[in-house]
Amino acid sequence: MHGDYPPRMPHRRPILVTMALPYANGPIHLGHLVEAIQTDIYVRFLRSIGEDAVYICADDTHGTPIELNARAQGVTPEELVERFGAEHRASYAAFDISFDYYSSTNTSENRAFAEEFYARLKAGGFIESRTLEFNFCESCRRFLPDRFVRGTCPKCKAPDQYGDVCERCNSTYGSTELVDPRCAICGATPVRRPSTHEYFKLSMLGDWLRTYVATPGVLQDEIKNFVDTWLKDGLRDWCISRDGPYFGFPIPGLENKYFYVWLDAPIGYVSSTARYCRESGRNFEAYWRKGAEIIHFIGKDIVYFHTLFWPAMLKVAAYTLPARVVVHGMLTVNGEKMSKSRGTFITAREYLDKLDPTYLRYYFAASLSNRPDDLDLSLRDLKNRVNAELVGNIANLANRVLSFAQKRFGGALTALPADERSTELVRAAEARYQAIEAAYRDLDFRRAVREINALADLGNKYIQDSAPWDLVNQNRDEAMKVITLGANIVRLLAIAMAPITPKLAHDLERQLGVERLSWRDGKFDFLHHTIRDATPLIPRVEDEALQALVVGPPAPAPAPAPASAPAPAPASAPAPAPASASASVPAKPTITIDDFAKVDLRVGVVVAAEPVPKAEKLLKLSVDVGTETRTVVAGIAKAYAAADIIGKRVVIVANLAPARLMGVESQGMLLAAGPGGSDLTVAEFARAVAPGTRVK
Ligand code: MSP
Ligand code: ZN
Repeated sequence: MHGDYPPRMPHRRPILVTMALPYANGPIHLGHLVEAIQTDIYVRFLRSIGEDAVYICADDTHGTPIELNARAQGVTPEELVERFGAEHRASYAAFDISFDYYSSTNTSENRAFAEEFYARLKAGGFIESRTLEFNFCESCRRFLPDRFVRGTCPKCKAPDQYGDVCERCNSTYGSTELVDPRCAICGATPVRRPSTHEYFKLSMLGDWLRTYVATPGVLQDEIKNFVDTWLKDGLRDWCISRDGPYFGFPIPGLENKYFYVWLDAPIGYVSSTARYCRESGRNFEAYWRKGAEIIHFIGKDIVYFHTLFWPAMLKVAAYTLPARVVVHGMLTVNGEKMSKSRGTFITAREYLDKLDPTYLRYYFAASLSNRPDDLDLSLRDLKNRVNAELVGNIANLANRVLSFAQKRFGGALTALPADERSTELVRAAEARYQAIEAAYRDLDFRRAVREINALADLGNKYIQDSAPWDLVNQNRDEAMKVITLGANIVRLLAIAMAPITPKLAHDLERQLGVERLSWRDGKFDFLHHTIRDATPLIPRVEDEALQALVVGPPAPAPAPAPASAPAPAPASAPAPAPASASASVPAKPTITIDDFAKVDLRVGVVVAAEPVPKAEKLLKLSVDVGTETRTVVAGIAKAYAAADIIGKRVVIVANLAPARLMGVESQGMLLAAGPGGSDLTVAEFARAVAPGTRVK
């Protein structure tokens, strides 16, 4: 370095970076943030080294779950995706995700591109129509997608399996092969009905795909191995149409058929780029027609779509092929799959209520290698790492150096010291800085974080050994030089940290009194300058905030409610008291099935909620019970904010005599578990059961 830092080649081609488009059917959660942060770190690094990189994303808005969810909430799918779209943008912005453009797949551009891709596939002879039998629910008046049929596995006879794959024996089958099939929406038995669909003959591209995935650099080794076995097993043709009712784009020339969501979702990468180019005056062709470097970041679960279907579509339609598909692993929380019932399904908003986004960005960076390994968010580990490294090492060096400069020299820097220890430090720091750059280039952010800490260690050790607080009394000039060298290390750290913790880096730039830094500024030429300010950069992680973030599994359940009591014992033996029933809450007397049948339990969807004035425990809910919307007053305000209960699919006691609570008439009751107050969990359905459905 020292002025001879190699000038970067003028970049030959623009880089387009994407992450997978999140479904507009739920909030952004920490799993989505792994991907957004990984991608953002890389894009910020590319920009810093002078590459022409843009970061594009969008919401994935189509498909059956979104359509059904909207219906259940009594809104149009457009309204639903609009709502989540706004929420997604706000969540990502709060985590400093630096999109150049964030769009939606439900745009006129995306529709036009979807039609164009389809037309090209058709013109190339890659589309075949086939008529097959499918499950049709007469009461819902719709064909049922595989995930919306449940029944007994035809191979191993496991009950209650999805229509495509058995979770017990792992065999795959067609949904019409299920034994005793049921509609997952209403429970009725579907009938078989023929329907004609459009199939993409992927098998025609087998040889080409084999060559493509073998192109060096396109796939990580682990992923390449996966894809190779798929290719070896033979490619199945892919059904790209769906019957109405469906939320998606109608297929031109066909009656009541829509493009399958996974056809137009990746096309969203293209149409979002087109919108970005139109609004920023850039050239669309340069990206998708003339060989820009296209890099997709995705999770392990959607590899098939991105390494087989998508390149095949691009190839046939003559668009630029991805230069790289970067796959990351799945996030677990405290060692387990994220789960709502365990309190480890953490949304972006819940995190933001409790902790600083900078901590999570740092922690994910420190956890991410360039391999598709799963990663765990251990809250204890987050606290230890952040406090020891980010706060205790990196930010500490900055504050130590800058506040000393402020206090003793009015912020003034001078020249570098010329003694041996100092020149050695410069050499070692330069080597670290290069190692950090190499780690970023390799997408090995864990290694980058290690190297950054090694650099901060060097700085801290140098200051410790040079003891400027003593030196200043004997040789003020020399002490000032020591601090100047320290400030140069701090400036390197600001540059090196910027992709991972941009807020902290920019705060540091402000304190240093410099303009936005880029990678090329990483030289030891920060001399005769005046530091503007020295304030601590970031506080330590506090235990209370951490504990509040994960509401652990509830304490052992109190006495089971009638619904969870053990199955009736044989008539001859008296029913033993259930072992789990605690002494303080006696089990209730046995009732007959007829007694139970008197209770009219129904699925309700909460469509609105507001606090009841002067009643701090009560929420006034509007609940869609299928035939009507009921007002239900519930004592859950200590456990749920009004906004959090909206959209939940709850159990309503529908034939309870109305009662007045704080002047509001409650027309029913909802079921919840727990002792009360803030420790209360409302019973809800994880899947989209229609409001009004009987619970029995
Ligand atoms: N809409 C599709 C992607 C279409 S891309 C043309 C989709 N959406 S998703 O919301 O389910 O997931 C979006 C991304 O988040 C995927 O890459 C997925 O792997 C990632 N993650 C979702 N949950 C995750 C974890 N628990 N951990 C890490 N990433 C996870 O799939
Ligand atoms: Zn049905």
